[in-house]
Amino acid sequence: MSPTILLTGGAGYIGSHTFVALVEAGYTPVILDNFSNSHPAVLDRLARITGMTPVCERGDVLDTPWVQSVVTRHTPAAVVHFAGVKAVGESVAQPLKYYRQNVGGSLSLLQAIESAVDAGAAPLPAFVFSSTATVYGDPDEVPVRESAPLRPSSPYAQTKLTVEEMLGCAVVARPAWRVGVLRYFNPVGAHASGLIGEDPSGIPNNLMPFVSQVAVGRRERLSVFGNDYPTPDGTGIRDYIHVQDLAEGHVAAVRALLAGQPGFTLNLGTGKGSSVLDVVHAFERACGRPVPYQVAPRRPGDVAEYFADPARARELLGWQARRGLDEMCADSWRWQSGNPAGYAGA
Ligand code: WQD
Repeated sequence: MSPTILLTGGAGYIGSHTFVALVEAGYTPVILDNFSNSHPAVLDRLARITGMTPVCERGDVLDTPWVQSVVTRHTPAAVVHFAGVKAVGESVAQPLKYYRQNVGGSLSLLQAIESAVDAGAAPLPAFVFSSTATVYGDPDEVPVRESAPLRPSSPYAQTKLTVEEMLGCAVVARPAWRVGVLRYFNPVGAHASGLIGEDPSGIPNNLMPFVSQVAVGRRERLSVFGNDYPTPDGTGIRDYIHVQDLAEGHVAAVRALLAGQPGFTLNLGTGKGSSVLDVVHAFERACGRPVPYQVAPRRPGDVAEYFADPARARELLGWQARRGLDEMCADSWRWQSGNPAGYAGA
């Protein structure tokens, strides 16, 4: 039997792409999801891509006894923890929701694992945590290294950093626990099949899904949040990383931890920056039509520029992002044009 990998939030955007990459790498992923920010239709799409009917445990990571029963049932070799909430603006308006879901959910999961292990019902699984580059806030310099100062600038970022700190304490108490923290930059794109992709509910907060919805006719035009930043074209620069590269980074992290690699904290990015207008123009090339936009005021909290220094991930995991912005846009467009209403139309 190939090692079982438990994916909390595995029906979500990054989780579902990681499911595919894990199957392709010879693992047996199991999804744990409450479908609060994902759609059950993704399970059929995953079956079509992988030829494997996903095993899915439907429930909430906050239900500690139930999560313990899931860990006991599946005895995972590793757990990848995606489940959580991730809208920066919403976290400012609803900080307690973010602490409950992100910190409370992680605590519940970790306690459920500890209880199952202490009961002798499961081996101590390697643990991979989905963190974010926004723990760095507005960096002093780019590219951003893991040693950069930590300046979480939103409740969302603070919750992710709090979980990182909680994991650090857990490892001190249990030195045998191998924990990998992955700080994502800007995940975009979709599986090349066009069968799974990003499907935000409501008005997209993030650039790529908004551009994609303009291109498919769901939105009238893009608002470019500021063109007076100190950047070559005045618009914000970010490190967009193809979600399949990101998923492969998770496989490399699981593989390293299972091979005995001590824990790590790594930036997952391409090491290249792209501006808002770079993304717009790349998307126009991908979809073959104009993406109308208007310049709007800067968005509060946005920084001018940040992109990763991914050297440590390359050294430690032998992983690096391979896909460029044009491929990110082409794959986004294939998903969006094939699924104009996302999974709801499935
Ligand atoms: C990118 C650029 C905007 C929308 C956020 C979170 C981060 C991570 C990724 C969770 C910026 C500009 C955007 C629009 C625009 N999420 N923009 N018009 O803010 O870098 O990161 O998402 O982990 O934690 O902070 O991504 O896609 O929102 O913005 O001009 O309608 O696009 O100003 O320059 P961001 P984003």
